[in-house]
Amino acid sequence: MSNKIYPHDFVKKKRSGEKIVMVTAYSYYDATLADRVGIDGLLVGDSLGMVIMGYASTLPVTLDEMKHHLRAVVNAKTKALVVADMPFLTYEVSKTEAIRNAGELIKMGADAVKIEGGLEVVETVEALTKAGIPVMGHIGLNPQRYLMLGGYKLRGKNAEDALNMIEAARSLQEAGAFSIVIEFTAWQVAAEITKKVSVPTICIGAGVQCDGQILVIYDLLGINPTPPPFVRRYANLSDQIAEALSRYVDDVKKGLFPGPSEYWSMSEEEFRKLKERISG
Ligand code: KIV
Repeated sequence: MSNKIYPHDFVKKKRSGEKIVMVTAYSYYDATLADRVGIDGLLVGDSLGMVIMGYASTLPVTLDEMKHHLRAVVNAKTKALVVADMPFLTYEVSKTEAIRNAGELIKMGADAVKIEGGLEVVETVEALTKAGIPVMGHIGLNPQRYLMLGGYKLRGKNAEDALNMIEAARSLQEAGAFSIVIEFTAWQVAAEITKKVSVPTICIGAGVQCDGQILVIYDLLGINPTPPPFVRRYANLSDQIAEALSRYVDDVKKGLFPGPSEYWSMSEEEFRKLKERISG
């Protein structure tokens, strides 16, 4: 595809001051619709553990589950960059395992992988990029570390945490990350990082002074009834879906679905023959 967006296009967009728009995608239709409206990047996020599988956190998500949804998104053959999340414990054990697991996602058609963490994952980011695998970093609130962080808490609330995050962002850039997600972080910290690194920052709950934004598709469409506080709902699909389903239930119960234009008949002649054969 000639106008396909690659990781280096994200960096070019930062240089030219064009805002980058990303959304998560888990299915062929998520990807197709997002691509149709010109979204720059799709993240097959491990958030699928919560919004698709109904897990209580992202920790149980497996590489196989990621691959299943990545395959659906890749089948949409999007212009948008496709980033696949590396789930918990697929990149922490060793650099070799990280390369092998990330490599599987790339072989399936992902354009890049995303891994959570700051200084502790810098060497892994370096190893992945050396192996030819583009990496998106992810700092601030790292949902895979919610147990260590004591919950899903705002990051960068004090100068020390902010300085650690700035150092992490710089190191991730030096290690080769082509962009960095900043999640649920005080806006001043995200703004400072955005100024200090030359790769784009993609924010979620971290203010407007970033190079781009990302939201979980089921949150922005209003399907998730309990989205995080930083989400803007652009639709209320849960009500629309419930309303459509309840009309379907009513129609079936009352014998109103299917209607005459929604089923097909055999010819009178064949029907007569059929009846003769049955009664004979
Ligand atoms: O998995 C995910 O959806 C994410 C976004 C929240 C950035 O990591």
